[in-house]
Amino acid sequence: MDFKMEFFVLVMLPACAAGLQDLSGKMFIFPQQTNKAHVRLTASKQDFSSVTVCHRSFADLTREHALFSLSTSSISNDFMIQWDDKNKEIEPHIRDQKVEYGGQDFKLNMWHSVCTTWDSSSGLVQVWIDGQPSVRKYIISGSSISGSTIIILGQEQDSHGGGFDINQSFVGMMSDVHMWDYVLSSCEIQKYVDELNFTPGNVLNWKALDFQIVDRVLIEEKQSSCH
Ligand SMILES: *[C@@H]1O[C@H](CO)[C@@H](O)[C@H](O)[C@H]1NC(C)=O
Repeated sequence: MDFKMEFFVLVMLPACAAGLQDLSGKMFIFPQQTNKAHVRLTASKQDFSSVTVCHRSFADLTREHALFSLSTSSISNDFMIQWDDKNKEIEPHIRDQKVEYGGQDFKLNMWHSVCTTWDSSSGLVQVWIDGQPSVRKYIISGSSISGSTIIILGQEQDSHGGGFDINQSFVGMMSDVHMWDYVLSSCEIQKYVDELNFTPGNVLNWKALDFQIVDRVLIEEKQSSCH
């Protein structure tokens, strides 16, 4: 490495490592089917006895694909949200357990917001698709998500930080990812859905996101209609 290159790396690294970016009005684009491209998100805390995760996505995939994948060293599907297009089901996986929500109006080629809540004391999970609440179902209670977490968009983790399957990869656009360490009220969820002022995630905050892009994932402005 010559001096110039070294200087460049030294100067550039701290700027990247600082990491917190305001992605308001922006989206990640996952432009091709691959088992490599992903975004790794760094959470501001660990150990969760309650969780809410919200995100928006746009895809035309007719196969199953992961929308959000959180693993810990002991459980690869510690909090994972998957859309199974074949069975038209949204499937939250929490602490390696899974429930299915069928009959969803989750059309291809449009933006959808998905919010998933879970509380370890009741063990109940619920998904809100475009603001429509699902049945509250029992998934697992009595233990919290703990230990070092790895959160990935674009791929589904079959091991801690890896084990990606091209046939579960996400191809499309994703935006407005937030995570809280509590169950949001239905009123707060409605504000998120309607893009009004809501309390940003205290674990992951799209307006101050700590993340790292691996392989081909692009950040672009969200396209809105002209006014
Ligand atoms: C992915 O799916 C395609 C089509 O069903 C199949 O041919 C291929 O073997 C699968 N790849 C992996 C890695 O599972």
